[in-house]
Amino acid sequence: KKLIIINGPNLNLLGKREPNIYGSLSFTEFLDQIQSKYPSATIQHFQSNIEGELIDKLQEVGFSYDGIILNAAAYTHTSIGIGDAVKAIETPVVEVHISNTFGREEFRHQSYVSPNAKGIILGFGLQSYELAIQSFL
Ligand code: DQA
Repeated sequence: KKLIIINGPNLNLLGKREPNIYGSLSFTEFLDQIQSKYPSATIQHFQSNIEGELIDKLQEVGFSYDGIILNAAAYTHTSIGIGDAVKAIETPVVEVHISNTFGREEFRHQSYVSPNAKGIILGFGLQSYELAIQSFL
């Protein structure tokens, strides 16, 4: 299976950023662990802080990959463009969040990704990504 994890703004700081909420493991360390745990899957990773780059990547992989695991981070709550891209592509998208966004500020309760996601996994820390990968295997 050909899968890609697409991470949005500030997720390049994982491990350093608010470790009480997002944990202290860096994403590269975590990715190494899951790549060796699921050898039957090719798990790519793309991160950008730029909305348009996330849309470009969704379009690029969205007609050929088997699954997309998308944590659009703050753009989840603001980006009609990312929401439209998720709707436009053919590859199923599982929306992921590290934290339980419904237990946090009101502005994090809104998602432009959810209506067109295949499913949503949130609140399990980095394990949210692993559960999303399992859903595609
Ligand atoms: C997040 C939740 C978002 O509200 C926040 O803006 C993030 C990370 C999460 O994974 O918990 O940057 O998507």
